[in-house]
Amino acid sequence: MHLRNNEQIRVMVVIGTRPEAIKMAPVVLELEKHPRHFQTQICVTGQHREMLDQMLQVFRLRPACDLGIMKAGQDLASVTAECLAGMSQVLQRERPDIVLVQGDTTTTFSASLAAYYCRIRVGHVEAGLRTGRKFDPFPEEVNRRLTGHLSDFHFAPTDTARKNLLEEGVNPNDILVTGNTVIDALFLTRKRLAEEPTLAKDGLGATDGSRIILVTAHRRESFGPPFRRICEAIRAIAESRRDTLIVYPVHLNPNVQAPVHEILDGLSNVKLLPPLDYLSFVSYMQRAYILLTDSGGIQEEGPSLGKPVLVMREVSERPEAIAAGTASLTGTDPERIVAAVSSLLDDPAHYGRMTKHPNPYGDGHAAERIVQFLIERMSAPSSAMAQSMLG
Ligand code: UD1
Ligand code: UDP
Repeated sequence: MHLRNNEQIRVMVVIGTRPEAIKMAPVVLELEKHPRHFQTQICVTGQHREMLDQMLQVFRLRPACDLGIMKAGQDLASVTAECLAGMSQVLQRERPDIVLVQGDTTTTFSASLAAYYCRIRVGHVEAGLRTGRKFDPFPEEVNRRLTGHLSDFHFAPTDTARKNLLEEGVNPNDILVTGNTVIDALFLTRKRLAEEPTLAKDGLGATDGSRIILVTAHRRESFGPPFRRICEAIRAIAESRRDTLIVYPVHLNPNVQAPVHEILDGLSNVKLLPPLDYLSFVSYMQRAYILLTDSGGIQEEGPSLGKPVLVMREVSERPEAIAAGTASLTGTDPERIVAAVSSLLDDPAHYGRMTKHPNPYGDGHAAERIVQFLIERMSAPSSAMAQSMLG
């Protein structure tokens, strides 16, 4: 392994939203274990504000720059434009050797495009997930595909994701199957909680034997009638199953807040909470009987906690958990959602079948694999790579 004139590799890790912070935290922590090889800088776009800051605090991540772009009810074009312009300035000033982006958000795509315009290499963490449907999830499916086109290194969480990339013509040497870094984050957090349970803010107390259904929902493609149907389903579960406690930390998007409060306020067994920091949310997941969600990350976390995940979407770019039997798609139709929840509550054999599988999304060592790959590829004699970047 050769380091260029003993220079460190300058890595810029870009983070915009809550899940990017959770999933990039293990990568940053791992890069920081190798100060001889890497000088690591975090740049946050601030696509999210409160929900991002919560996570930066939990993982003690200290950004070197913050574009602070979030506006209430922001639209996709303005987030894209502001991230692109802001990231271009930062990259021209800092000139890192590589930019690492994660997932499928507008920050992910815009930062990759900015890096490409500056002829800076891009490493894509959580690469290769696809539904093959342009508007499902929206705009994440296309954000992720475009980021793939702009990336030099593709860190695929699973073999399926690798296969998707190969089918699109990506060079196999530039793909590494790593597992998902969210599992690294989950394991780190579970360990911290085991050592110090009071780190979790738990406003629930004893639940008198009620089984907890932990809910999250926020997808753009569901806004409007489908999202209202999700809320109606939750209401129907709360009214028909007094033996359950529904805990729902509500995303701050106004398109989510308004229907949730209109339809779910005032139900004694529905607890609507502000977004929870990751330590608290993991603690709630551990206590939950069922995870009912449209989130990507929670589909990946559920199997490691032995919790069944009901996914309130028509398709998922994470087919592995569905194939393994730990997650199931319910769509947004209230009848299907209520039936799926009832079946888990009333049929212990069905519940058992959904909870006893190894996690297809990783073993908690994804960040180590990513960092080792970067050491090998970025430390190689630089001329060939630098030439190719300069066209
Ligand atoms: C974004 C991502 C989505 C990801 C989700 C994670 C895009 C297009 N979407 O969606 O892929 O799954 O984050 O949660 O990148 N808000 C606040 N405070 C916050 C965060 C959000 O008030 O800390 C409100 C603001 O009014 C903001 C709105 O939520 O305008 C929407 O935020 P935005 O990042 O555009 O979309 P998300 O639905 O959060
Ligand atoms: N999460 C959290 N607090 C919450 C809700 C979710 O810490 O109140 C975590 C969850 O465990 C997962 C991630 O946030 O790791 C998922 O983020 P989100 O649902 O916002 O985005 P998605 O995964 O759908 O992109």
